[in-house]
Amino acid sequence: MNKALFGRMLHGGDYNPEQWLDRPEILAADREYFRRMHINTVSLGMFSWAVLEPCEGVFNFDWLVQIIDALYAAGVSVIMATPSGARPKWLADAYPEVLRVDAERRRTLFGGRHNHCYTSPVYREKVKIINTEIVRCVGRHPAVLAWHISNEYGGECYCPLCQEAFRSWLAARYGTIDKLNDAWQTVFWSHVYTDFSQIEAPSPIGEHALHGLTLDWKRFVTARTADFASFEIETIRAAGSDKPATVNMMYDYAGLDYERFAGTVDIISWDNYPPWHKTEEKITALDAAMQHDYMRSLKKAPFLLMESCPSATNWQAVSKLKRPGMLLASSLQAVAHGADSVLYFQMRQSRGASEKFHGAAIDHWGGETRVMNEITDVGLALESLGAVCGSTVHAAAAIIMDRESRWAMEDAAGPRNAGLKYKALFTRIYNGLRRGGAAVDIISEERDISAYRIVAVPMAYMCKPGFAEKLRAFVSSGGTLVVSYWSGIVDEYDRCCLNGTPHGLTDVLGLRSCEIDALYDGEQNAAIPVAGNALGLTRRYVCDTLCDVVDLCGAMPVLTYTDDFYAGRAALTFKQFGAGTAWYIGALFEEELFSDIFCRLVTTAGAAQPYAMRLFGGSSVPEGVGVTTRENDDAAYVFVQNFNRFSLCLPSKVLPKGASVLYGTYTGSLAPLETLVFAFSKT
Ligand code: GAL
Repeated sequence: MNKALFGRMLHGGDYNPEQWLDRPEILAADREYFRRMHINTVSLGMFSWAVLEPCEGVFNFDWLVQIIDALYAAGVSVIMATPSGARPKWLADAYPEVLRVDAERRRTLFGGRHNHCYTSPVYREKVKIINTEIVRCVGRHPAVLAWHISNEYGGECYCPLCQEAFRSWLAARYGTIDKLNDAWQTVFWSHVYTDFSQIEAPSPIGEHALHGLTLDWKRFVTARTADFASFEIETIRAAGSDKPATVNMMYDYAGLDYERFAGTVDIISWDNYPPWHKTEEKITALDAAMQHDYMRSLKKAPFLLMESCPSATNWQAVSKLKRPGMLLASSLQAVAHGADSVLYFQMRQSRGASEKFHGAAIDHWGGETRVMNEITDVGLALESLGAVCGSTVHAAAAIIMDRESRWAMEDAAGPRNAGLKYKALFTRIYNGLRRGGAAVDIISEERDISAYRIVAVPMAYMCKPGFAEKLRAFVSSGGTLVVSYWSGIVDEYDRCCLNGTPHGLTDVLGLRSCEIDALYDGEQNAAIPVAGNALGLTRRYVCDTLCDVVDLCGAMPVLTYTDDFYAGRAALTFKQFGAGTAWYIGALFEEELFSDIFCRLVTTAGAAQPYAMRLFGGSSVPEGVGVTTRENDDAAYVFVQNFNRFSLCLPSKVLPKGASVLYGTYTGSLAPLETLVFAFSKT
């Protein structure tokens, strides 16, 4: 059952009217510009605590009520934030325990934002009071659509309260100290603990090389933060609001395992700031597409694009303007991948402080601008895409991306401390699947994979309990599995797996990884096809970074290495297992190999997007083109976007049978940054 989140595509963004309360003419002008730009929603209150509660227990909400009334009268809805992302000075002064302690055990001074302890009972109490007051004063206002809980949760606190909470968390996880010692293998370097009270969080001035400790600390930080988010949502519910709640997440943020927030929030949302034009747009677009897919996959449901920049940020190394049409293409890419909103940071540029030069819908000049026209184009596009609201992407392909596994892999001193190039491998696999026409979910090892037709497992270093069994069942019942080197190496505690790797899969893959060779930067090997190989490959492919040396026990070689002492050994293999097939990629190959493999496998596995394939007629999707289908019970909406710097022809000059154009003009070709949306009726 597909459910529209809000019945319309949201268009707007972060709005901070508290910075302009002495300038009512500016606030009135804002509303007029909102109307012209087709803005229908703003997010309010992210950093308003000091204005809402200027002194402890003294509340000042009249301005907020007036602002919301005026916005509502102007047809603008509100996503209301809780202000816990930055606390007022009085709170830090009166209760120093709310200030964070850093990894070197220094308590920080007041300043910045995202700088409070998630464990502090005082902080929780004060957050509860202000959240309750917000719900009481504006929570039932008809303009309020949803709750924006805090802002970009992140960071860590090492204060005594957090340390104690960490020890209790460990005691609950392990039960006995012996189990913890075994899990962390503390006998190495004589680091054995005799009591939970002896444990200290990792620190550069203390223990920082015990991988089990570091991994559990990261898990604990996520658990603490998710617990704080749940606590905030409970304060909203207890105060009487049942509007949906979200937390805005960040791009590939390594500080938290967002998987643990999926059950806590009602809607996933995230903040998207790609460095457009730093390199070719098609490269940036591929990266942004992956992140959208990851966010959508967290709940397998429509999500919100909570922030994006209408022009240039002020915090990137080079804050480049978006070229004409880039905002529209980037915004519609989010919608293509499942967003039911395009929201910006920020509606009006602040006059001072650290973000005064950050791009905004309304700038310091305060008049009509080029950027406003670009935003209006997005507003109009979203209005014509109203039917797409609530539909979602049904992917037949999945890539496993497990944050805990990445934490462990990146912390381990191993074959290549100069960089494992996980992201490069991941991107090449993702690109291959997309070129083959598949829509892709990005999911953790813990998720169900039974409904996919093809599952790729790049560098799944950690093999969590049940993961290998799940992959085995998937292949045996007909799935196509592709596993890469450096998979199935350790268990969930980061202890090495004994008796052969990839753990639990040696018979499925028909091989055992014996040794892995690390290559210096600039060093290469290559592989050549075996005659009559299962993929019909005919050319030589270069590889670098890591080269796995495997012993075959049932797998068929597809490519073999050309160089070094392992020349002639298998570098890409295939095995039939049950009703399915299992493939093993032994090295970080050049991009073309991934397109060659996955275009073939997506077709044979039947994993291509069916409606989209009517447009592309079974051929692969051209490089730089994004094709994504959102569906509901009534229709399939196929988004086609050209992120190349040149125009390209669509395979058919004629609209396929049953299709209509929902957005754009179908001429048989696509200009750079052009988007077309086709609707296929299912009824
Ligand atoms: C986000 C943050 C916003 C604003 C924006 C600037 O990470 O949530 O408050 O700072 O960056 O790009």
